[in-house]
Amino acid sequence: MSHFHYENGEFYAEGVPVSRIAAEVGTPFYCYSTAKLTDNFTNFDAALGGLNAKLYFSCKANSNQAVIRTLAQLGAGADVVSVGEMYRALKAGIPAGEIVFAGVGKTRTEMAEALKAGIYQFNVESPGELRALNEVALSLGKRAPVALRINPDVDAKTHAKISTGKSENKFGIDIDHAPAIYAEAASLPGIDVKGLACHIGSQLTDIAPYRHAFQKMSDLVKALRGKGHSVERVDLGGGIGITYRDEQTISFSDYTNAVAENFGNMGLKLEAEPGRAIVGNAGILVARVINVKEGVSRNFVIVDAAMNDLIRPTLYDAYHQIQPVRQPADDAPVTKVDVVGPICETGDQFAEQRPLPPLVADDLVVFREAGAYGAVMSSTYNTRPLLPEVLVKGDKFEVVRPRQTYDAIIGQDRLPAWL
Ligand code: LLP
Repeated sequence: MSHFHYENGEFYAEGVPVSRIAAEVGTPFYCYSTAKLTDNFTNFDAALGGLNAKLYFSCKANSNQAVIRTLAQLGAGADVVSVGEMYRALKAGIPAGEIVFAGVGKTRTEMAEALKAGIYQFNVESPGELRALNEVALSLGKRAPVALRINPDVDAKTHAKISTGKSENKFGIDIDHAPAIYAEAASLPGIDVKGLACHIGSQLTDIAPYRHAFQKMSDLVKALRGKGHSVERVDLGGGIGITYRDEQTISFSDYTNAVAENFGNMGLKLEAEPGRAIVGNAGILVARVINVKEGVSRNFVIVDAAMNDLIRPTLYDAYHQIQPVRQPADDAPVTKVDVVGPICETGDQFAEQRPLPPLVADDLVVFREAGAYGAVMSSTYNTRPLLPEVLVKGDKFEVVRPRQTYDAIIGQDRLPAWL
């Protein structure tokens, strides 16, 4: 069931009218639903139930501590890609022993911080990184628990900018080199090699690339074990797509089958790192129409949110459904408009020629499926403050990140002595 819906002629987040939040916090703002987060997490968790699996929420999708803590209370670990994210996850209540550190370029400083914290696993992406981690671990008198991230050379059939599992992508260790590097890992005194990891891309809507990648990974586990190596864990990555428009995405039953067919009964500890599938449709961006401008060839709806707040349409031509907060009548006329932000760039556009019911200045609009890669990818371009984030639970809501003040942005600058 959707926790974002129309009721009494207006848009609600769970039991709270979005207009009430707008009146209290101003616009634009991000709003997340606890019930939707909970449903998404528990359904994903249940899909891997019985397969000795644990979910490590990919904090890069949404790293608000209130979101992470909500998931931590449901039993989530964290997948982090920087020490900053590690600190957030720890602060949000995820124990170090439930944190996986992924990423293609960990610095030695980051490795040391994560080793001192005692995290569960480093996903290592290259021989160079493996050797560096070995040295850092030895210098601290520790052994680093490691999964080697393998690039299985599979086309995830997703947007080129978020595809990661082809041999030409920068990610992971080429699958053909994996046996030699696994053997090296097993021989390094500062490395405790636990298994393998893979992640072939994000927003996957077809199960076939998963099946292909999982089969290659499963064959690799068998080959490594055949050579006498211990392989205890496999990290399946994230990537399950969500419906932004009308895409048919991967069903949990297909995903479960793909996992079970390839890794069931192998005595493995499985890990998954979903981000978007947990938070994507649990969040919205709410904005207010500043002005409607009738151009010569097009009409523009100018809203107070912009590409700095939600960059996905600009960066990936991503589609986000747009809905007026005041429910349009069933027979309301629909016209095609461009929905744009106020930033001085043509790319500051949320939708081009989108059929929408009539909108006028001061109307509130909602951008759906903005919970993943929304707030986390925002910036202060044009000296626009970072947006507030609100978490709804039933008929309650709280600001879980206040709007950034102008002082907080401008006050960061320092003038050199000669000025
Ligand atoms: N694990 C690894 C190693 C990853 O690189 C990613 C995402 C995930 C897990 C989580 O993937 P998810 O379940 O969320 O698909 N900014 C882009 C998406 C970038 C994804 C990067 N890696 C977007 O807005 O579509």
